[in-house]
Amino acid sequence: MASPCLSFFFISLLLTTIAEASHCSIKGLPLVRNITELPQNDYGRGGLSHITVAGSVIHGMREVEVWLQTFAPGSGTPIHRHSCEEVFVVLKGSGTLYLASSSHEKYPGQPQEFKIYANSTFHVPVNDAHQVQNTNEHEDLQMLVILSRPPVKVFIYEDWFMPHIAAKLKFPYYWDEQCLQTPPKDEL
Ligand SMILES: *[C@@H]1O[C@H](CO)[C@@H](O)[C@H](O)[C@H]1NC(C)=O
Ligand SMILES: *[C@@H]1O[C@H](CO)[C@@H](O)[C@H](O)[C@H]1NC(C)=O
Repeated sequence: MASPCLSFFFISLLLTTIAEASHCSIKGLPLVRNITELPQNDYGRGGLSHITVAGSVIHGMREVEVWLQTFAPGSGTPIHRHSCEEVFVVLKGSGTLYLASSSHEKYPGQPQEFKIYANSTFHVPVNDAHQVQNTNEHEDLQMLVILSRPPVKVFIYEDWFMPHIAAKLKFPYYWDEQCLQTPPKDEL
């Protein structure tokens, strides 16, 4: 027979899990949702407004994930790569895509520059290092971003000549941190 103490422990654990799950779950949300009312945050990254429109961690998406991101003038993504496909649709503003096609084996190398603008679309090949910047000082850059294989595992570079093997894994990514459980960190 299970001891009452042990039962209490398991019931507490269950209640805690349910409480966390409801905060990080789509359960109870309407099927059709108003984007303006979805959680929006900069997740500590100046100039960014990120909304997970349909996500792996919160909405249980398995194959794709969709973001709506707005970058203030001068802001942008880090230089990074990921082993998933990514499609961008520019809704407003303009900016620059920097893309290092995989011509170098050891590091990304000098990227190609592409002007991006409202109603333009582009995709980033799997594992190519890239960066998107709002280089228009007068207007926000707003993009719909679609990724495969969520939740995204991002490797971040400090510059274009940092070796691939030195790129730092950021997982869970900024907006997945709160709801994607990871082993507790050693606080000491
Ligand atoms: C969506 O939400 C915004 C902000 O609350 C509101 O102004 C707008 O009317 C909503 N749209 C609809 C169709 O409910
Ligand atoms: C974007 O493209 C669509 C389809 O061609 C067009 O209807 C729309 O007016 C365009 N918007 C802008 C901002 O150019």
